[in-house]
Amino acid sequence: MATTLVTGIGSLVTNDSALGAGPLGVIEQAAVVIDDDRIAWVGAAAEAPAADTRYDAGGRAVFPGFVDSHSHLVFAGDRTAEFDARMSGQAYRAGGIRTTVAATRAASDERLADNAAALIAEAARQGTTTIEIKSGYGLTVEDEERALRIAARFTPEVTYLGAHIVAPEYAEDPAGYVDLVTGPMLDACAPHARWVDVFCERGAFDGDQARAILRAGIGKGLIPRVHANQLGPGPGVQLAVELGAASADHCTYLTDADVDALASGDTVATLLPGAEFSTRAVYPDARRLFAAGVDVALSTDCNPGSSFTTSMPFCIALAVRDMGMTPDQALHAATAGGARALRRDDVGVLRPGARADLVELDAPSHVHLAYRPGVPLVRTVWRAGVVV
Ligand code: NIG
Ligand code: FE
Repeated sequence: MATTLVTGIGSLVTNDSALGAGPLGVIEQAAVVIDDDRIAWVGAAAEAPAADTRYDAGGRAVFPGFVDSHSHLVFAGDRTAEFDARMSGQAYRAGGIRTTVAATRAASDERLADNAAALIAEAARQGTTTIEIKSGYGLTVEDEERALRIAARFTPEVTYLGAHIVAPEYAEDPAGYVDLVTGPMLDACAPHARWVDVFCERGAFDGDQARAILRAGIGKGLIPRVHANQLGPGPGVQLAVELGAASADHCTYLTDADVDALASGDTVATLLPGAEFSTRAVYPDARRLFAAGVDVALSTDCNPGSSFTTSMPFCIALAVRDMGMTPDQALHAATAGGARALRRDDVGVLRPGARADLVELDAPSHVHLAYRPGVPLVRTVWRAGVVV
């Protein structure tokens, strides 16, 4: 097995406070040894062991690959007009999802897979090395199962979101749709997924429906995560905590009781600033969550309706500017936070034994991700030890 020494790192974020300074575990003048797909050694460049090949980072910053724990990449069609109308003053509505459902159902498997592959490649160029992908634009047994099969070609972090909205065929019978989602659709989908998700929101599923859907998924061995409190206050966040969900995502409208619930439980709050940006919504204040000791993740929510970006650097810049995160908090949320939201300990961190997922930035510090917004600073990305 070949080893590579990545040396000359001006500032290395390990996300392991035992390895370096502060919560980010920063080591200056650092080096990393990659052995096959794993990290073999991390430390001061002056003390680095020999390796088969050598890469000089020339004083640039290196940090763990981004862990994007929330995306909807299996879809077809286009919603440019809807975005354009929103920017002219129209409100975002969950019903726009139906447009994408129709286009997705009509697309071939290859079309859907090619679209997902192109978006994953786009994300990787911007430093994303782990990505979660949801279904939710099929809403029939066959189309949801197909979406999950396609997602599983790209990632083990596959989420069953049959409960994205009530399928158009069931518009007059939402209870019938919940029966489908918790019955035959779940049976077909559970073997292809790790997670179960529900859009708990006015216009989608209420708290009781969401509880029934998540419990059914848990009964099939899936772990819950919840689209919660995006468009208004609601029961989603507290339901997520009640069921021990890995993550409550969006968290745009939080009451003090929601923040307290998150602080008391094991559920990560995943913030999705691309959604507030693209729906011209008010950003949640991350400082409330940090002050309460809540674990926070940052993710793109990449989807064609509410957040059509694959860029974690863009989301970091928004989180710093508009959610009140420090640059350190935002980087941590986009790496270790995402890993926690996916219950992974092999990614989002650079320590011996972790997967060799690294980003080299064309800048001396990770702070430049927010300091130089919109600039393509990602220079080199290693995923499982391979340059992508
Ligand atoms: O996370 N909120 C629900 N689902 C997506 C939006 C999907 C769409 O508009 O197509 C989200 O924002
Ligand atoms: Fe989403």
